[in-house]
Amino acid sequence: MGIVCDPYKTMAGPKPKLLFLIVILSLSASVGARPFVLILSQEDYKDDPPADPDSPAEWDEFAHGDAHKSEEDLDPGSWRPIFEPPAGDPQPLPESDAAYYSAVHKLMSGEPALIQDAGEEIAGLAVSGHPAAQSVLGFLWEMGLFRERSKGKAFLYHHFAAEGGNMQSKMALAYSYTRQDMLEKGVKLYGELAEVAVNSFLISKESPVIEAVRLHNGAEENKEALGKSKGEEDEDFQILEYQAQKGNAAAMYKVGLFYYFGLRGLRRDHSKALWWFLKAVEKGEPRSMELLGEIYARGAGVERNYTKALEWLTLASRHHLYSAYNGMGYLYVKGYGVDQKNYTKAKEYFEKAADNDEVGGHYNLGVMYLKGIGVKRDVKLACKFFVLAANHGQPKAFYQLAKIFHTGLGFKKNIPLATALYKLVAERGPWSSLSRWALESYLKGDIGKAFMLYSRMAEMGYEVAQSNAAWILDKYGERSMCMGESGFCTDAERHQRAHSLWWQASEQGNEHAALLIGDAYYYGRVCGLTMRNAVNSIYWPLCSLLPTTPFHFLVFFPPFCQGTARDYERAAEAYMHAKSQSNAQAMFNLGYMHEHGQGLPFDLHLAKRYYDEALDHDPAAKLPVTLALSSLWVRKNYADSFVVQVIDSLPELYPKLEAWVENVLLEEGNATILTLFVCLLTVLYLRERQRRQAAVAAGEVAQPNHPNELGVPAAPI
Ligand SMILES: *[C@@H]1O[C@H](CO)[C@@H](O)[C@H](O)[C@H]1NC(C)=O
Ligand SMILES: *[C@@H]1O[C@H](CO)[C@@H](O)[C@H](O)[C@H]1NC(C)=O
Ligand SMILES: *[C@@H]1O[C@H](CO)[C@@H](O)[C@H](O)[C@H]1NC(C)=O
Repeated sequence: MGIVCDPYKTMAGPKPKLLFLIVILSLSASVGARPFVLILSQEDYKDDPPADPDSPAEWDEFAHGDAHKSEEDLDPGSWRPIFEPPAGDPQPLPESDAAYYSAVHKLMSGEPALIQDAGEEIAGLAVSGHPAAQSVLGFLWEMGLFRERSKGKAFLYHHFAAEGGNMQSKMALAYSYTRQDMLEKGVKLYGELAEVAVNSFLISKESPVIEAVRLHNGAEENKEALGKSKGEEDEDFQILEYQAQKGNAAAMYKVGLFYYFGLRGLRRDHSKALWWFLKAVEKGEPRSMELLGEIYARGAGVERNYTKALEWLTLASRHHLYSAYNGMGYLYVKGYGVDQKNYTKAKEYFEKAADNDEVGGHYNLGVMYLKGIGVKRDVKLACKFFVLAANHGQPKAFYQLAKIFHTGLGFKKNIPLATALYKLVAERGPWSSLSRWALESYLKGDIGKAFMLYSRMAEMGYEVAQSNAAWILDKYGERSMCMGESGFCTDAERHQRAHSLWWQASEQGNEHAALLIGDAYYYGRVCGLTMRNAVNSIYWPLCSLLPTTPFHFLVFFPPFCQGTARDYERAAEAYMHAKSQSNAQAMFNLGYMHEHGQGLPFDLHLAKRYYDEALDHDPAAKLPVTLALSSLWVRKNYADSFVVQVIDSLPELYPKLEAWVENVLLEEGNATILTLFVCLLTVLYLRERQRRQAAVAAGEVAQPNHPNELGVPAAPI
């Protein structure tokens, strides 16, 4: 994965190829974000050079205005007081806020009666003009909690709340606009949100990442990721802390770091972080020195003191910690803690960092060139630096790139791209703490609370939350404590909600979700995951022995499925989504649909291409692909023969088997075994028929074109 943003090189050389700027952006994999591929063509550059703005060389980094603001101020109406009650004497809340928080508290209780009360209280507050309450009311309408779902009303209340400055409603609106292709509105809101998010980031290399953990991995619980998120309970963390207590400087630094950023499910705690960093620097640990520099420059949990900041940073740089030069450069740009501003010196420091592969150096140089601070203004060079930094997951660089494409500075405006980049940044704003609380609740076994929180985030457009919420619904069923129009969700409500969440996640590029949605349309049913969980891993290679059915089918899971109309076109569309994420199953299914002319044009040639592609992407697909290719071969060479009729009639047999399974066995384990058994029998039967039929056919027609050992003609179809 890499980024190329080097207009100079290509422009100087021979006539550039059409696509000469390829940008592949991704946030670090640990965040679970999908890689984000972006291809810029020469068209994207403006012909005329950017006009020099009259605005003074303002360094809009770490803007002072918001630097002082707490996360509560940045995210008004945040549910933080419910999940992270402040230590010590709580400040008395204004009366309306007290009522609001008491209502939200009830909303989280998991008790239908209390939740219903909460809904009424929230509605009352919303009418009296409380923006945070309006935002929550929007959420209640969106979810259909003790009221009939209404997207219109949800939109209306989010709109009011956003006007009143509620950031969570702004997120919900921005997402909703973007989904409806109202990009002008979406980009404006996401731009605002991204700016707030960037201002809440700390100075250091990384932003305060709140790791959005995917609860599931395909259909299964993501045990590994969950294990790493247990905070102080985590065994690894306890070992680390023990080592730190025994005087291991690196461990001290790490423990401090975890507290400083609130990583691994720990609650952020600046004073604990400070304590550990101070212990570590006694042992000469340089990374702690740098962070102390940042802590003093930022005033995070201590009184701000730029002199001290410079002292710590200088000390760190003497230990050859090149990232510390970024902080020093920053102080020189601003003239903090030094005699006077010195742009030359600042640039030297940033270059020193950049020359040593410190991402922050690239980013800071980018800002200097973008603003023309101490250098001649050069937007293209700035872009180059930002892309370099973005490639290393520096979210502030995403923000700057988004701004460049939003305003069309030096580049043609690209609103879709700007929106996507802003969204990535906006999703790291203070409101992303919801994700941490959701995960905490999940790990504590409080599924209802986790589901509520993920649903809230889903509405705000977080893909991980959408698929987590959907997965909880499927996996936990009634235990998900899903609330509907009148008390606990009916099965229909739950399936409908899961479907809508999977659908949104798939729109946002979640391949697992896209596959589920494709299946739902293909089979004309909205199915739960429950049965499939157990079956999927074995089922996939085995049951796909049947050459006639896409191997990702949902045949035997009647109790968990809801009938809807089959819709091959939409199924094909969803599989395309999944296919664009290199999903082999989706490729196979697309091949199958081409082979049968379902939802896609009947085209054996394309079908073969998809089958081959599936095999290329996943060696496990060898068996199904081989069989599918044989079936393709049979279809091509014996177009109207009996075999083809058998193959074609097979899907009709399934409903009968299905009914039988439904009546006889609902048990998961038994159904699994049964499924495999039936699959095997069918395969054996089919192969036998096929062989006999082929023998007969070969006898009748002198067939020169014998299949090779795979049953596939050597020549391409
Ligand atoms: C900041 O730190 C310096 C050096 O450690 C110290 O001399 C100065 O008094 C501090 N300033 C404030 C306002 O505390
Ligand atoms: C700024 O820094 C440069 C390089 O370190 C130095 O040569 C120059 O004298 C400094 N300028 C001022 C005004 O201090
Ligand atoms: C099959 O179902 C029966 C009855 O529900 C149950 O007792 C048995 O444990 C199940 N077998 C498996 C392998 O799950």
